[in-house]
Amino acid sequence: MRLPGEKVEEARRLLEETRFAGVLTGAGVSAESGVPTFRGKDGLWKQFRAEELATPEAFARDPGLVWEWYRWRRNLIREKEPNPAHRALVELEKRILERGGEFGLITQNVDGLHEKAGSRRVIPIHGNIWEVRCADPACGWKKVDRGELDPLPRCPECGGLARPGVVWFGEALPEEALVEVERILRGCDLFLVAGTSGVVQPAASFAWAARRRGAKVIEVNLVPTPLTQAAHLAFHGPAGEILPRLV
Ligand code: OAD
Repeated sequence: MRLPGEKVEEARRLLEETRFAGVLTGAGVSAESGVPTFRGKDGLWKQFRAEELATPEAFARDPGLVWEWYRWRRNLIREKEPNPAHRALVELEKRILERGGEFGLITQNVDGLHEKAGSRRVIPIHGNIWEVRCADPACGWKKVDRGELDPLPRCPECGGLARPGVVWFGEALPEEALVEVERILRGCDLFLVAGTSGVVQPAASFAWAARRRGAKVIEVNLVPTPLTQAAHLAFHGPAGEILPRLV
């Protein structure tokens, strides 16, 4: 793939000189591992969009349907491996930490592939698809379980319904994650956004917030997005090809 040489040089320089890099990733970073994205042509499951299934209302109405979707996604993701985009971000973190800088990788992905690739400072703002927890927050039971689940998993403590340990539309992000995100957005001098459509809040606002506070913003995506406007440098193509070139 051809990329404009001057822009590549500029991005490399920013990545080499950064003292504190923040990164935001979305489903596009896992696409080349074979994980379907949420929007675009492979974004539907049966006839449903994510917004129709990933909500507390959908779960209250038909928990079996919501679980069917998550069990399908769990089965699809289970054997998937990180791709060169994940590995480039591991390398970036390693280099920045080695020279005494700071790094934080905010991901909207729940597949765990950044962790599997070896990234250490990962903030999974939308949770973890391998976590199963009691649907009743007052009970609080949870565990990580990568195995095949029952069609309608139950909480072993209180007998109520269990749910996936992910953040649904209309739910707040985990408090610890928000604190970390705020620290990154306040402190970073470079913010790299990769493989996200930039339409789901609050993540869609992070690049703008970093830019307002003086950070340089780089976007990597197959296509232009609403975040392209926030980017000083935008690269359009597969993250698994572009990120290794930049890092
Ligand atoms: P989307 O499915 O909305 O967007 C994926 C983005 O990745 C699109 O902009 C694609 O152009 C881009 N893309 C696809 N393949 C790519 C590749 N190989 N290289 C680079 N870019 C590529 O996914 P997210 O932005 O992550 O939330 O979606 C945000 C949230 O909406 C998800 O975390 C999920 C979803 O509903 C919840 O479930 C709460």
